[in-house]
Amino acid sequence: MNAPVSPEIVLEGRNLARHYVLKRGTFAEPATVRALADATFSLEAGKTLAVVGESGCGKSTLARLVTMIEAPTAGELRIDGKLVPFTTHVDKELRRKVQIIFQDPYGSLNPRQKVGTILEEPLRLNTSDSAAQRQEKARAMMTKVGLRPEHYDRYPHMFSGGQRQRIAIARALMLNPKILVLDEPVSALDVSIQAQVLNLLSDLQKEFGLAYLFISHDLSVVRHIADDVMVMYLGRPVEFGPAADLFANPRHPYTRALLSATPTTDPDKRSERIRLTGELPSPLRPPSGCAFHPRCPFVFNRCDVEMPQLKTRAGNVTLACHGVEEERI
Ligand SMILES: Nc1ncnc2c1ncn2[C@@H]1O[C@H](COP(=O)(O)OP(=O)(O)OP(=O)(O)O)[C@@H](O)[C@H]1O
Ligand code: SF4
Ligand SMILES: [Mg+2]
Repeated sequence: MNAPVSPEIVLEGRNLARHYVLKRGTFAEPATVRALADATFSLEAGKTLAVVGESGCGKSTLARLVTMIEAPTAGELRIDGKLVPFTTHVDKELRRKVQIIFQDPYGSLNPRQKVGTILEEPLRLNTSDSAAQRQEKARAMMTKVGLRPEHYDRYPHMFSGGQRQRIAIARALMLNPKILVLDEPVSALDVSIQAQVLNLLSDLQKEFGLAYLFISHDLSVVRHIADDVMVMYLGRPVEFGPAADLFANPRHPYTRALLSATPTTDPDKRSERIRLTGELPSPLRPPSGCAFHPRCPFVFNRCDVEMPQLKTRAGNVTLACHGVEEERI
């Protein structure tokens, strides 16, 4: 019998954290925003890990660490098996492996450059390709993302939001990355266009064996594309596991509340709804113990004194919740 082939892990975070120190006037003490803490996860080649949670929970902070735009305050990041040496120069080869797509493609596309120039720029800066080779590769990539040959000479403002996102995706793929970080890539698009861009991403993933770190505040967007899901609350992962398990049987009260807020046609699911009440606390003053406790319908005496760790197993899912650990929920 053949030995099972172990999956190729292309991205691994271990206890990643990022703090920001805010200076607040001359006499006030500086405050620390714990934008991200204890983020531990892994992503296999060709798979999609969705990162979900409300605004300000640390999703984009995680994206900036994974793309090496910023260094973590603590923890380790491995890309393609290699520990990222944040204390020293991160080499070009490692940077090429991870590319990012933002929510607003217009902001990230130079309005004075034509599509052809935008796509050829990464090749010009990173390869010894001739001008003819660059043009050939750019045109081939345009076809793959569904742009037409005549678009080569047009400027970004001449395109719709969906087409601009196709240009941004094409540019990100020019240097054959292994990982794409997609930070709310369809949130600014009309629902009908969202589906087209998601289908394109899914086709490209299969064709190039890409791994996606797909960030979204909307669980309904990631439902059909995620292999694994990491749910974040106030800078910390609270539940992590295969998307199929997490959607079929969400365990963490916050995940359940998030899922309840997304539309469903299943009447059984509707009746179990948990309403998300109360304000999202400030990450400058996170609640004691479990940060979700002021909003949790299952809160009990342990919750506001002890911070739950991401270690409770429920089937294939790992979560941070005292209530689930003690089998109260
Ligand atoms: N450079 C910074 N300096 C200070 N605080 C920051 C900085 N960047 C992010 N933060 C804070 O860290 C927290 C996490 O921010 P982040 O942008 O990662 O959230 P997010 O989940 O991406 O939110 P959104 O869904 O709104 O994009 C927020 O409270 C934010 O205000
Ligand atoms: S630890 Fe307590 S407050 Fe936090 S989610 Fe679990 S039951 Fe709710
Ligand atoms: Mg963000």
